[in-house]
Amino acid sequence: MRLFVALEIPPTVRENLANFIKQLRPLAPEPRWLRPENLHVTLKFIGELPAERLTAIRTALASIRTAQAVTIDFRGLGFFPNGKRPRVFWAGMNASPNLKMLAADIEHAVEKLGIPPEQRPFSPHLTLARFEPPRLPEKLRVPIQDNAEREFGSLAAQEFHLIESKLKPSGAEYTTLESFLFDMAAEA
Ligand code: 2AM
Repeated sequence: MRLFVALEIPPTVRENLANFIKQLRPLAPEPRWLRPENLHVTLKFIGELPAERLTAIRTALASIRTAQAVTIDFRGLGFFPNGKRPRVFWAGMNASPNLKMLAADIEHAVEKLGIPPEQRPFSPHLTLARFEPPRLPEKLRVPIQDNAEREFGSLAAQEFHLIESKLKPSGAEYTTLESFLFDMAAEA
């Protein structure tokens, strides 16, 4: 099974991003635009694993302690790896420092189970579209520039999720296998 760990986004942020995608998509149908229900903040891509490993992954994730909500303001737009050869078009965020700590804790917890650590620095984002070949469709240039500082809303996350991704011809289908609540009570 193909697994990843992510934060869900609230309905208002999802709706704002869905409207933005709806605005851009007719200008350039060729990129692979994400379905709004699939938008999420990836914390760790685990990848393909035999189903027998699932229990160990769940146990490892359950051991993670996060004492405070992760707050995020979704704002701005950008590209991976860069604007010259864009493969991924994303919405950015300003997050509380514990987001990075949570991602690192998840990384370390699953690394102990043999999941290879991510080689690239953690750069939280919301993927909106993928370009293949890696080139920005000309008609998106101005609307993306015009919305470069756009705000999409905010989030105070108190849980993260283990999600299974099934790759289908119609696009990825995600199923939440388990949600892990932060232990805010630890602060009280
Ligand atoms: P991203 O879209 O947030 O960049 C589920 O497939 C999620 O895991 C994707 O949304 C993607 O995150 C991330 N992902 C998919 N394939 C990946 C890979 N080979 N390496 C790293 N992250 C990947």
